[in-house]
Amino acid sequence: MKAVIPAAGMGVRFLPLTKDMPKEMLPVVHKPTIQYVVEEAVAAGIEDILIITGRGKRSIEDHFDRSMELENVLGNNGRQKELDEIKRVANMATIHYVRQKVPRGLGDAVLLAKQHVGDEPFAVMLGDTINLSAVPVVRQLMGVQAKMGGSVIAVEPVAREKVRDYGIIKGESISDGLYEIEELVEKPAPEDAPSNLGITGTYVLSPRIFDCLERTPPGRGGEVQLTDALRLLSQEEKVYGLQFQGRRYDIGDKLGWLKTTMELALDDPELGPPLQEHLRALMARRS
Ligand code: G1P
Repeated sequence: MKAVIPAAGMGVRFLPLTKDMPKEMLPVVHKPTIQYVVEEAVAAGIEDILIITGRGKRSIEDHFDRSMELENVLGNNGRQKELDEIKRVANMATIHYVRQKVPRGLGDAVLLAKQHVGDEPFAVMLGDTINLSAVPVVRQLMGVQAKMGGSVIAVEPVAREKVRDYGIIKGESISDGLYEIEELVEKPAPEDAPSNLGITGTYVLSPRIFDCLERTPPGRGGEVQLTDALRLLSQEEKVYGLQFQGRRYDIGDKLGWLKTTMELALDDPELGPPLQEHLRALMARRS
């Protein structure tokens, strides 16, 4: 299976930081966010990845490319561990790139993958969402898709006041954690939300989605919404929602990014203990 990683958004919530730097390159401890996404795809057995980029996103390509100069310097200085790590990152997967020339929304970005993907189911993994789980979340979706066919999207319950930040589904529960989707709404007001199950940003989609995207007019914010195309798809084929096993981190806004950085740093065996000590002292000083 191929994976498509949309990474073309302008990162408005992180300005001025993202004026000249992709939000997908925001560091979470010592790795850029998008590296976690690529690593999840690779851990799920996906070797062919298409990243949808745009203006100002060159550093993403450079990150997954070889750097002979850096490799030579590290080699000459005996920094074998660092050398191995940057080579691993450059050789992890076959990565292709296509640029979204005008920011027309997530749906439009996914449509740019049509030619590369062809006529097979494929994964979509948002470039600003990190999943941590024993079995890669995308693998969990692939498992359901292999058994049930159709399309499968990752969902999780979100707080009432947060439904306006997510695509929200309504589905009929068919087995533990699995829903057959009847309705999808992009970022509804809490009073209009059909449930509290939010779309978290990992999808395994039938190639029929491309035809639906072509028929989807601009929606919320004047952008072509993937959620709107999924609504069309759900009227023609089965679309399932899976409440996956694992933790999801949304890097899309400042608080989400800070919380993620903090939590993953606390999990790190080297950084965790001294950071915890520092945070305790900091909180004691402030209370
Ligand atoms: C996108 C999708 C939305 C989904 C969200 C997950 O929105 O349009 O349906 O719930 O990702 O992060 P964005 O966060 O790009 O505005």
